[in-house]
Amino acid sequence: MTTTHDGATRTNNKKLLDWVHEMATLCEPERIYWCDGSQEEYDRLCNELVEAGVYARLDPEKRPNSFLARSHPSDVARVENRTFICSEKEEDAGPTNNWMAPKEMRAVLNEQFKGCMHGRTMYIIPFSMGPLGSDIAHIGFEITDSAYVVTNQRIMTRMGQAVLGVLGDDGEFVPCMHSVGAPLEPGEEDVTWPCAPSIDDKYITHFPETREIWSYGSGYGGNALLGKKCLALRIASVMARDDGWLAEHMLILGIESPEGEKTFVSAAFPSACGKTNLAMLIPPSTMEGWKVTTIGDDIAWIKPKEDGKFYAINPEYGFFGVAPGTNYKSNPNAMESLKENCIFTNCALTDDDDIWWEGMTDEPPAHCIDWKGNDWTPGSGDTPAAHPNSRFTAPAGQCPSIDPAWEDPAGVPISAFIFGGRVSHNFPLVYQAYNWEHGVYMAATMGSEATAAAIGQEAMRRDPMAMLPFIGYNMAEYWKHWLKIGRSHVATPPRIFRVNWFRKDEHGKFIWPGFGENMRALEWVVERCRGGAGAIESPLGWVPPYDALNWTGLDFEKESYYKIMNIDREIARKEANDQEELFTRFGDHLPREMELERELQLQRLYHSPPVWDLAAVQRSTT
Ligand code: OXD
Ligand code: MN
Repeated sequence: MTTTHDGATRTNNKKLLDWVHEMATLCEPERIYWCDGSQEEYDRLCNELVEAGVYARLDPEKRPNSFLARSHPSDVARVENRTFICSEKEEDAGPTNNWMAPKEMRAVLNEQFKGCMHGRTMYIIPFSMGPLGSDIAHIGFEITDSAYVVTNQRIMTRMGQAVLGVLGDDGEFVPCMHSVGAPLEPGEEDVTWPCAPSIDDKYITHFPETREIWSYGSGYGGNALLGKKCLALRIASVMARDDGWLAEHMLILGIESPEGEKTFVSAAFPSACGKTNLAMLIPPSTMEGWKVTTIGDDIAWIKPKEDGKFYAINPEYGFFGVAPGTNYKSNPNAMESLKENCIFTNCALTDDDDIWWEGMTDEPPAHCIDWKGNDWTPGSGDTPAAHPNSRFTAPAGQCPSIDPAWEDPAGVPISAFIFGGRVSHNFPLVYQAYNWEHGVYMAATMGSEATAAAIGQEAMRRDPMAMLPFIGYNMAEYWKHWLKIGRSHVATPPRIFRVNWFRKDEHGKFIWPGFGENMRALEWVVERCRGGAGAIESPLGWVPPYDALNWTGLDFEKESYYKIMNIDREIARKEANDQEELFTRFGDHLPREMELERELQLQRLYHSPPVWDLAAVQRSTT
């Protein structure tokens, strides 16, 4: 075993050195390499990956310093059924997580990791989630045998030698252990995307009590870039519970009014609901003077501070976004962020060495190489050129809408939390919770439709706070934590809103234009936070009357507005009744407030006067 950049010359942190030594002894790599995070190192590793056929270098004129990787067809997404929370007690993981006793899981992992890096380099990656030295940030170390992971982590995190300086001799870090799970025995030839051959050999495991991550068998995305979902959400949610802050699956936006007043909001949506598009929204030109800036597109760490405000940072340094559907209409800022210095995974390769994916252009290329490496033409039938979960890894600093404060170690003050799902019926475009408890209930019961087959009939896939796959402990305890945070720190915590861009008409067509026009709902949110803007009571919460929204430049008639805001009481009662099933899963862990709020909701749906129905109010005042 040889060691380049020996650890002992870089750090005196005994815990770190001992851990690296222990892992090297377990995994038996051929080499150990401490990453310094430099551009020179990044370029060298990318060149090596090109030589090994793992990366294809894209045309240096069209897409400078950018690469395409193709994964193994079996390794294309997060593996939720192989993701485990290994708390000492099963009930601490809760009914929504896979659980295994730590002792049992450690025995499994020891077997899997033993000798798993034969013939490979063991890379040590120092990284900071959040601006270096921020009191909201945390340090992690990822050990991996994948150079693909190293190069992606350099875009997704603040990585390198400077982290060791901040860590010091006895600083704390989260150990993140990763292997693709494909040892190379002497004489064995490597493949371009090594990974464990069977799904049952993949393990994405978290030990909340000891704050450790062990991931085995996959090289893809959230399974392998351990700073993201594993550390910044699953482990961080536990740290946040213990230390009085929030680790959330949320984007962070800055919204500037024509008067130059800036409001920051944070928004949670389940995966694949257009979070990156909202994070980079461009207001319609007719809404003169309004400006939106981006702080983050996926994760927010939020800390209440002494002044009573909630301050948020984006712990990440890059975007790991879903490529298909991204184009100059849906998200020009994302397209601009992808011009250079990016890694693309499972996208299609065009004949002029650039990338393409479904929805990028109106016209598909006449020919390209698909994500599996095969010839593809528009006549290739249902076979997509890019995998539906193909990704771009892009430096956040390249985004034209990036907020000047995105790296402020103090974070930005959050005025509103917005929760949204994908629901084709009955959920209004935008509404506001009556108070913090009501808002937590709204967020806890959110979800998206599992299928769009028949309007009004779809089953909801509940995704509380968009955290279902990412909570590191019992979901009901997490709701308690939210309730407590809102009460203990401030008289008026951030206001809570729900939005739904996806309502459809009787012909199955989206009623709301979405994208940049979502700014109209955001303007109402901002004005509500500032004490302005009209609202009327409805059974679900405060809703904007037609005239409370800014319609300049958009032809959206009152009738359409009623359609998108109207609440069918019967459907809403069914929805509230269905929530009982979710709540009963948590037994004694369920905070009383949740059931009380549900009952209040039902009461309002049964007994509130019709004047609370938006359409009735609108009609009586017009
Ligand atoms: C993501 C996800 O990749 O939420 O961000 O799945
Ligand atoms: Mn996400």
